[in-house]
Amino acid sequence: MAELQKDPMTRGDFLGFGVMGVIMGGIITVPAAAFLLEPIINIDILGQSNVSDDWQEVGPVADVGVEEPEVFIVEFPLTQIYGDQEIQELSPEVPRSQEEFDLTNAVWLSWKAPILEQGDQGNSGDTIGVPERPAFLDEKREGFTPEEISEVEESLNILSNSCAHLGCPVRWIVNADGEGEFLCPCHGGIYDINGNWYGGPPPRGMYRYTQFEVRENGRLYIKHAYDVEEGIPGISTQEPYVV
Ligand code: FES
Repeated sequence: MAELQKDPMTRGDFLGFGVMGVIMGGIITVPAAAFLLEPIINIDILGQSNVSDDWQEVGPVADVGVEEPEVFIVEFPLTQIYGDQEIQELSPEVPRSQEEFDLTNAVWLSWKAPILEQGDQGNSGDTIGVPERPAFLDEKREGFTPEEISEVEESLNILSNSCAHLGCPVRWIVNADGEGEFLCPCHGGIYDINGNWYGGPPPRGMYRYTQFEVRENGRLYIKHAYDVEEGIPGISTQEPYVV
């Protein structure tokens, strides 16, 4: 009597193929769906966030020493809005929730060191001299004249502590030769006291706050704005990783 031929596919195989089909389908479908739904995800789920455009106080510039930068913590008010703006405009009765936060930034201040020999970003850092702290700061901490304000504003480096590579917080360290530098602990990025690139993977120098003013009271004020220009022409234009 002829033997019945066994089905080459077992129930387990069948279920396995089914699961694999679902996974493959998901891999193919999810990116396309995410692309199509991105505006909805951005507006309805992530919402919109606006950082205040007001001036925020950093601190007294006389606290910044000659050889070492000083770090200051600055809180920027941030408004987070959830909900669809278009629907809100069409139907104002639809509620949009809104929350207020403080966004914490660490701001490094240092005095500009003269560049004795220009380095080549991505190849070698600058050779720099001793940072130039305005001499009048030894005598006074406030009551600045307009000339003194200009001198301070021209002499300050105002830097974000978010590494220009992938955004890790940098720190100031003094190396075995007694020389200070900003070091990023994540991948070893190094910057000099001017915030300029010195070594490691960052494609440019540290981000600088671009809107700042020193007032008669001897204190620095900034807005939440950075330079996002290219570090190495044609290679990198990065938005700051701080938000
Ligand atoms: S994040 Fe700083 S070197 Fe990579």
